[in-house]
Amino acid sequence: MDAADGFQKRYSNIDELAADAKPLLTAQAHGYYSSGSDNEWTLRENSEALSRYRLLPRMCIDVSVVDTSTVLLGQKLSAPILFAPMAQQRLCHPLGELAMARAAAAAGLPYILSTMATSSIQEVAEAVQLPDHSSGSSSSSSSSQGAAPSRLPPASAAAGTDPCLWFQVYVMKRRDVTEWMVRQVHRLGFKALVVTVDAPRLGHREVDDRNKFSLPPHLSLKNLEALTKAAGGTADVQSSGSKFGKHFSDLFDQAVCWDTIAWLKSISPLPLLIKGVLAPDDARRAVELGVDGIILSNHGGRQLNYAPAAVDMLPACAAAVQGRVPLLVDGGISRGTDVLKCLALGASAVLVGRPLLWALTLGGQKGVEEAVGMLKAELELSMALLGTCRVSQLNSSFIIPPPPRPSQPQLRLQSRPRRAVVRVCAKSDPEGNAPPPPPAAAADTQQTPNRPQLPPNPISNPAGVVAYGGRLPPARRLIVSGLTATAVALGGNFLGVTSTLLALDGGKLAASTNLDVLVPVNGSRRCLDTGNGFTFLYPAKWLADQTLYRRYAERIEREAALDPPSLRRERARRQGVPEPAAAFGPAGSTGEENISVVVAPIRPGFSLQKMGAPEEAAARFLRETVAPEGSGRTAQLLGAGSRRDASGELYYQQEFTVKSERFSRRNLSVLAARNGLLYTLNCQSSTERWASNEAAFRKAAASFAILNSGAATADFPDAL
Ligand SMILES: Cc1cc2nc3c(=O)[nH]c(=O)nc-3n(C[C@H](O)[C@H](O)[C@H](O)COP(=O)(O)O)c2cc1C
Repeated sequence: MDAADGFQKRYSNIDELAADAKPLLTAQAHGYYSSGSDNEWTLRENSEALSRYRLLPRMCIDVSVVDTSTVLLGQKLSAPILFAPMAQQRLCHPLGELAMARAAAAAGLPYILSTMATSSIQEVAEAVQLPDHSSGSSSSSSSSQGAAPSRLPPASAAAGTDPCLWFQVYVMKRRDVTEWMVRQVHRLGFKALVVTVDAPRLGHREVDDRNKFSLPPHLSLKNLEALTKAAGGTADVQSSGSKFGKHFSDLFDQAVCWDTIAWLKSISPLPLLIKGVLAPDDARRAVELGVDGIILSNHGGRQLNYAPAAVDMLPACAAAVQGRVPLLVDGGISRGTDVLKCLALGASAVLVGRPLLWALTLGGQKGVEEAVGMLKAELELSMALLGTCRVSQLNSSFIIPPPPRPSQPQLRLQSRPRRAVVRVCAKSDPEGNAPPPPPAAAADTQQTPNRPQLPPNPISNPAGVVAYGGRLPPARRLIVSGLTATAVALGGNFLGVTSTLLALDGGKLAASTNLDVLVPVNGSRRCLDTGNGFTFLYPAKWLADQTLYRRYAERIEREAALDPPSLRRERARRQGVPEPAAAFGPAGSTGEENISVVVAPIRPGFSLQKMGAPEEAAARFLRETVAPEGSGRTAQLLGAGSRRDASGELYYQQEFTVKSERFSRRNLSVLAARNGLLYTLNCQSSTERWASNEAAFRKAAASFAILNSGAATADFPDAL
């Protein structure tokens, strides 16, 4: 079938491709691509989990200019979408990985080549015309590993982007072979490595067993064939049927541990992402080892069955990672709204898998380009309908977590909480303390004695929640903590139970785990912006502030205007309206009453101390910015102070009034500067409304923290 007649005419969405692709594939190939492990619960759960989240659109926002592009690890992408690494792509199209990689380049998106590809690393580099960095050679010349077929026209990358190839690494028992591959991809200009850690052995794919899956004789796992031979081994990669799993086990290292990740980092300067992580503790550990990104994934439901959907682990992992590295996610993503949900929950980008294989089957490179075009168009439309113009605007205020599912056993627990909870926790410790680590964790600690001791994670280890009972007596602590864990596991705020429980310890558990992103605690909700790297609490009933966002949208439109650049810059400078990265206000607000955060670039070497002591800095700010001479405004400083958070990050706080003929306002601002950016949280209301907002404003100011520096702990004195 030719894609030339246009997917967009024949299909309404990329989910529809699967049915038409099936009859074009052998039963073996279709089974291999489509199946999951065991009874495929996780495979089904991937799409179902996504469909349980709801999006909360914002209205009256100028969305005439919507930009889906983003920057990931320094690379500009036309959309926050990557091609997932998938083995054996020539099973569905003669050009397999080559066509797929070229479609990715044309779309301005990264292509992740699998170790288990049916095309060699060199062929793929040639197909997208990456320059070979080895002396005197060019990847466009033919090589011993085979040149790209001559009927491929030159690949053209999307405007403004370079072809972007990443390489997915399965660590092999022969470490020298792995090292050889890693060095080769670096030499050929690949931009990142992705090490997959969720496949120490192949999951049980029952469909493949039944079909006696094998590669047809004309295909082979090109990289393993060439590289195992180069390393002096044999390369029987035609293993079939039930032998496939054994073959995988023979070649791949089942003893991949955290030190393997450190080793991979040590042998390549390329950014390293880890793929297959789901537990927040693992995410945190990976960051501590210096990985450059994390891909939350259950391998498309092909490995451990009953593993959760990666999207459900996003909030907890985002909280664990605290914005230190980008989080990516995959599994079941096929709609623009799926992408939006993942981004709103804290992901920087998503990976798409099977739909691209179906597109390749139906239309080769052109088919994949069309499918990606449809997905990007859906994303753009959904962003507009959601009321967002840029990927960086997406945050937790746009998402509503799944409602509780009535069939959950936890509902029964509501009627008999005491017995049920004791059953959960009593095994571990009647005092309600965290249980000892399970044997596997203990063994792990022994293997790596230098491993830093991490606090127990209450989400990945629900019984560990009992450690967060505050000063409650042990028995109540047990019940509170168990119920909280249960409510959290439900993923929602069942009848307000989660909020109430989380409030019982003064909100400490919620703050330490960022659960208050999902459910209100003590009347506040957390804004966690992992993209810009800050967090703060705002009144739970407040909404994202439409007026401020509208101003932001206007500014984007101005910047996209056809004026010559110098004129545009000058106008933007004169306009001087800083755009908020986050803004919340009461429903129906006119923009006068709000809490907002502005993140603005500053010159290198700037620090708060260079502005002088807090009082001095505040006075200067009022004099030069808030109420300069001739502005018609007067400002009065009410107080200024400073604090440091747990990691030593410095914050300046200033409180002042501003008056003009038209208004009389009171403001509370907190400033922090890091990595060339000035972060300013501003709480503002009319002087008449100040008293009703004061408590919420002080809470927001005290909770404001820039990420990667530990949450703010010290409180400002109530009166400055
Ligand atoms: C046929 C197939 C082969 C795959 N091969 C690999 C692989 O070689 N390496 C890897 O890390 N993940 C592999 N995956 C997992 C994908 O990278 C990705 O995690 C998953 O497909 C995402 O789910 P989706 O297919 O629902 O989009 C494979 C998935 C499929 C469907």
